[in-house]
Amino acid sequence: MDIVDAIENRRSIRNFKRINVAEDILKEIFTYASYAPSHYMTESWQIKLYQDKGKESFIDEIMLSYQRIGLVASPLDEKSKKMILSMTEFLMKIPHHALIYFEKLDDPIRFEEEYASICAFIQNAQLVAWKYGVGMLWTITPYMHDKDFIKAIDLEPTKHKIAAVMQIGYPESIPPNKGRMPIDKKLEIISD
Ligand SMILES: Cc1cc2nc3c(=O)[nH]c(=O)nc-3n(C[C@H](O)[C@H](O)[C@H](O)COP(=O)(O)O)c2cc1C
Repeated sequence: MDIVDAIENRRSIRNFKRINVAEDILKEIFTYASYAPSHYMTESWQIKLYQDKGKESFIDEIMLSYQRIGLVASPLDEKSKKMILSMTEFLMKIPHHALIYFEKLDDPIRFEEEYASICAFIQNAQLVAWKYGVGMLWTITPYMHDKDFIKAIDLEPTKHKIAAVMQIGYPESIPPNKGRMPIDKKLEIISD
């Protein structure tokens, strides 16, 4: 697949087939993603890949976090219990959840460099996945800032930053290409 074709036609996938992507394909996707630029070649991305039964405690922790941060009522009333159940079912149907994190740096410039590189890694992963017919959704949600959630997944809130959770699987459906604004609206050429 031509790289420009992948860039233009990759879409965020929100509806996945209920089959796993083979481990060797996932490893290949993340291997090529690792060719992302990385200042000082730190390659600071780390991945926790939740799948099969491994999704259960991860998703349970997300639901507990939603209660802690007030997205769902706590203690749970009947309506909230139903919400938790339906969100849990929805997330369990997604074949893989890849949590991407890195070690925080105190220097704000170095932090930005590391985060920028992680974002390049994520977009590379999405593009390589597309070549294999695999879809992804890049998600950033409030639980990623919840210290108790971070601890619950065996990370250290003072040390680690969760950059994203990628939802991964074969697309059940692919949304239409909405296109993008003409670049002339964005591009200012300064020649002298
Ligand atoms: C940093 C980042 C965070 C995102 N978070 C979410 C999210 O939490 N939920 C979601 O549905 N889409 C999320 N998206 C996906 C965007 O909605 C999507 O890229 C946009 O609608 C364009 O669609 P496309 O990727 O199919 O071109 C995120 C994208 C980025 C870059």
